[in-house]
Amino acid sequence: MSTMQWCRYRNDQLLAEDVPLAELAAEFGTPTYVYSKAAILAAYREFALAAEGRRALVCYALKANSNLAVIELLARAGAGFDIVSAGELARVLAAGGDAAKVVFSGVGKSEADIRAALAAGVRCFNVESEPELERINAIAGTTGQRARISLRINPDVDAGTHPYISTGLRENKFGIAHERALAAFELAASLPHLEVQGIDCHIGSQITEIAPFLAALDELLELAGRIEAAGISLSHLDLGGGLGINYQGEQPPSRRDLLAAIFARVAAHPLGRRYELMFEFGRAIVGNAGVLLTRIEYLKSTPVKDFAVVDAAMNDLMRPALYDAWHGVLPVLRRDSAQVIYDVVGPVCESGDWLARNRPLAVQAGDLLAIESAGAYGMTMSSNYNSRPRAAEVLVDGDRALLVRHRETLESLYALERRLPPEA
Ligand code: LLP
Repeated sequence: MSTMQWCRYRNDQLLAEDVPLAELAAEFGTPTYVYSKAAILAAYREFALAAEGRRALVCYALKANSNLAVIELLARAGAGFDIVSAGELARVLAAGGDAAKVVFSGVGKSEADIRAALAAGVRCFNVESEPELERINAIAGTTGQRARISLRINPDVDAGTHPYISTGLRENKFGIAHERALAAFELAASLPHLEVQGIDCHIGSQITEIAPFLAALDELLELAGRIEAAGISLSHLDLGGGLGINYQGEQPPSRRDLLAAIFARVAAHPLGRRYELMFEFGRAIVGNAGVLLTRIEYLKSTPVKDFAVVDAAMNDLMRPALYDAWHGVLPVLRRDSAQVIYDVVGPVCESGDWLARNRPLAVQAGDLLAIESAGAYGMTMSSNYNSRPRAAEVLVDGDRALLVRHRETLESLYALERRLPPEA
């Protein structure tokens, strides 16, 4: 579903599923993230359906949106999870997710992370370096376990995406270089408290073509052949996440077409049929299933520009400031007055605090705006900069709206801090 499939106008009023966004703003205030249950489930189910009848596990990468309600929806639908910290693991468990369907990614797993994951019994560690192999082996030795591992290979594929979110190039910090892969697998196989299970990669994010995924897959299959020839058997291939969404007219392949192309390629390979396939999609599951609802505080004109100053800011949605990212902006009330070109900016004291630039809008001060495609990497990347409480989060389901995260209070901003003792 694109945002426009669940966020539609009726009588010039923008609805989230069947709930007027204006009602959500009145009830929960602004800024508020609003997610569609139907859109999240439809996206996940498209992957699940494409994988039906195959040995495959579609994981959801929690870093995109880690609200407990979102995790629980996907856990109930049968998803696995891709995590990168003990914090994300705690969220999966708190939401009723199954540790046996969790893969643990990340380049810097701490001892505490590894202990927590072993205690929970995660499905697999996606290991990124030789020293990490040694560390997991040592910790598993102390707990009397054999840790299941996969090694992340850096396939040196250009995913053609923003440099900050491209991860499969040689100069990135991620994964193990192709030419060192076999030696790393041999080291892993020699360590007594590890059980080698798979090979994985993740080449980047917001990828809008099928070809880079197939190139990465070919490289994994070629390496898998060499690893098996060295006497190390594998049971799964994990292709990571990275499928892009439509923000501004991009036309990524459908979830179904991407998986169909991957399964076809695997089936055509002599080794391919042996392996279970795993995926770690984040953005393609939740990105277009959320909007950020915000209210215009002021319309401000300068000699060169018009600004709509809104109550959401870069601390709520960092993507524009950080990546120059484009998000659509929809007025919640459609007016027939003339449009003016605005920069939509927040109250934070930085010029980088903008959400959208040069947008034609017919709006008045006090109007509400919906920032589109904010379901992924919105709330999870938010901060308290300028001592701004984090936004509320609401999940809509038909004509019902559930508050799934309270707006932070002012007291919560400094609840962990301490004043000086009297003598200091
Ligand atoms: N697996 C691994 C190992 C990853 O590093 C990532 C994302 C994913 C899966 C999920 O990727 P997705 O399917 O969501 O593309 N903050 C950036 C995106 C950073 C992605 C980092 N890794 C943004 O807002 O565009």
